[in-house]
Amino acid sequence: EMSPQEQAFQDRVDKGEKIEPKDWMPEGYRKTLVRQIGQHAHSEIVGQLPEGNWITRAPTLERKAILLAKVQDEAGHGLYLYSAAETLGVSRDELLDKLHSGKMKYSSIFNYPTLNWADIGAVGWLVDGAAIMNQVPLQRTSYGPYSRAMIRICKEESFHQRQGYAIMMKMAQGTPDQKNMAQDALNRFWFPSLMMFGPSDKDSVHSAQSMAWKIKINTNDELRQKFVNETVPQAKYLGLTVPDEKLEWNEEKQGYDFSEPDWSEFFEVIKGNGPCNRERMDARVKAWEDGEWFRDGLNAYADKAADRRKA
Ligand code: 3HC
Repeated sequence: EMSPQEQAFQDRVDKGEKIEPKDWMPEGYRKTLVRQIGQHAHSEIVGQLPEGNWITRAPTLERKAILLAKVQDEAGHGLYLYSAAETLGVSRDELLDKLHSGKMKYSSIFNYPTLNWADIGAVGWLVDGAAIMNQVPLQRTSYGPYSRAMIRICKEESFHQRQGYAIMMKMAQGTPDQKNMAQDALNRFWFPSLMMFGPSDKDSVHSAQSMAWKIKINTNDELRQKFVNETVPQAKYLGLTVPDEKLEWNEEKQGYDFSEPDWSEFFEVIKGNGPCNRERMDARVKAWEDGEWFRDGLNAYADKAADRRKA
């Protein structure tokens, strides 16, 4: 049963009003936003690791410059999202502490290794493609700061997806060895990309409430279906085969029927037992510890500047 205050809040959300930081909001709404925005930000930061691994190994200077720009964009996306989370009264240090201690998640996809250059194409094409599917609707989310961060982020995501697809085109239309690498990358990244959208709707614990609050605009399965419908023709154009023998166009539903990902693998990965979870967390904790002297210096400088202003 909703209190009059909660009912008034729900009416605002139903009318499509934006909720701003100083507005009254149910505690559950705030907690859900901190969880989702915080984990979204963590995803952007951890997501730099698989690609960062290939900046020094890019095949040409142009490819290195493009990948560098993309990874730099992801860092910026993380900062926008941490700033949006801070408007909810949670500090960046607190969020990062929860990430490093395994109390907060980041997208499952970043726990898979990038073994060769074709993987960098598959990541841009599939992972950023999936992220676009998920982030475009989030521009209409009810919380103002999150919606505005999404609008800014979405402007950069299409470049991320296109540069990855360009790598896949180059390799799929290259030598037989290059085409085999592109096919192998698609084989390894296809189902983990489907997992990015979250568990199937029947297993999604947060969807119903998140959709009522317009923190989630579409269900996990809706976005997964949309991703498959748009991506399969792109794979066909590359002359590559989607690694799912059940994939078939369903005229009646105007979409593809496809195999579910291996959900036991998904839940293992988000529990911390994926191929690269340990390596990713160690890298983030090391970066945090190595940066301590720098943060201390910035804070000491800020304190002195504040003292000078007060004096
Ligand atoms: N990876 C890790 N955890 C996941 C997950 C995934 N792919 N999908 C679901 N989960 C977790 C949820 O966080 C939740 O656990 P929690 O209670 O500890 O947070 C649990 O599984 C149940 O899933 P639900 O579907 O009930 O949870 P949500 O309603 O939160 O839906 C979501 C999950 C669709 C990922 C939603 O949180 C969301 O839309 N988040 C914002 C988008 C986002 O985080 N995208 C990351 C993609 S990578 C990226 O954006 C970087 C890009 O630049 C490449």
